[in-house]
Amino acid sequence: MGEFQRFVTPLNQTEIEPLPTGGQIEYEYFPTSIEVTAPLLYSLFQQHWQSVGVGHVVDGSVLELEFTQAPKLCKLYDGYLTVLTEGWHLHLCLEPHLGGPENKTPTALQEKRLVSRAAFYRRFNDQNKPRSWGIQFWNGAGERMMNLFLPNPFVGNNEDLLPEHKPNLAKLALYEELREIYVLGTKEIPFDRNPLKCAYISVCRSTRCNPQQNWQPVYNAIKEAVTEANLDIEVAQSGCLEVCKLGTVVFYSGDRTWYTRVTPELAKQIVQTHVIEGERVTSHQYPPVK
Ligand code: FES
Repeated sequence: MGEFQRFVTPLNQTEIEPLPTGGQIEYEYFPTSIEVTAPLLYSLFQQHWQSVGVGHVVDGSVLELEFTQAPKLCKLYDGYLTVLTEGWHLHLCLEPHLGGPENKTPTALQEKRLVSRAAFYRRFNDQNKPRSWGIQFWNGAGERMMNLFLPNPFVGNNEDLLPEHKPNLAKLALYEELREIYVLGTKEIPFDRNPLKCAYISVCRSTRCNPQQNWQPVYNAIKEAVTEANLDIEVAQSGCLEVCKLGTVVFYSGDRTWYTRVTPELAKQIVQTHVIEGERVTSHQYPPVK
């Protein structure tokens, strides 16, 4: 992995889309590499969640969601950014989704799912005045994915529309700052490493692979071993890890290895032998090593 680049190399691409009802949308594109999208989305969902909305806008349908408290989770799992709130969650494909040990995602589907175009936008009315601000994503098939709604100076508390001549322009500060960082590349990314690219060990807590539901001692054993060894690795409990039998199932993202029938003792061995010493514990690897 190369060194984390604190400055975005700008694409210098702008596009204007006229709207059939008058007005237009201006798109300013930015790079879709994980080194750019990850810090942008992490900062929006972890630091500015009070100010952003998440949605989907196509002709005939609008979905707009707000955060009422900080997301419970904001992580990258197998290419998908997952953001979890009390009442809803979202997934956005920022890197190729590779799939499970026995159901790898076909390359064409990986490419289709991936964020392949992204832009900051401003929507102008028919008098050429900007009236909304946000970020739009498209997938590899050119379809609109979700978009993020940024603070709007014409909207007050409780969605109250302010008079046209009395906008609260301070609300544009977030758009302006993010645009400088991610579109223009004139300001540094405010992280010294990619905030979503952290190795992790996941323990499946689903009943399907583990009818006894005895994953917790395995999770605790891994957590303890990782803490004792002072490793920079996240330990997570998760939904399906795409093995779906022979639980407890454990996944190590460092070299994408699955383990089955993991006990607390084996969990400690995985941390020591695999994560620290670099040798897989082949007796419990999945698919089985012949
Ligand atoms: S349900 Fe546990 S791996 Fe699928």
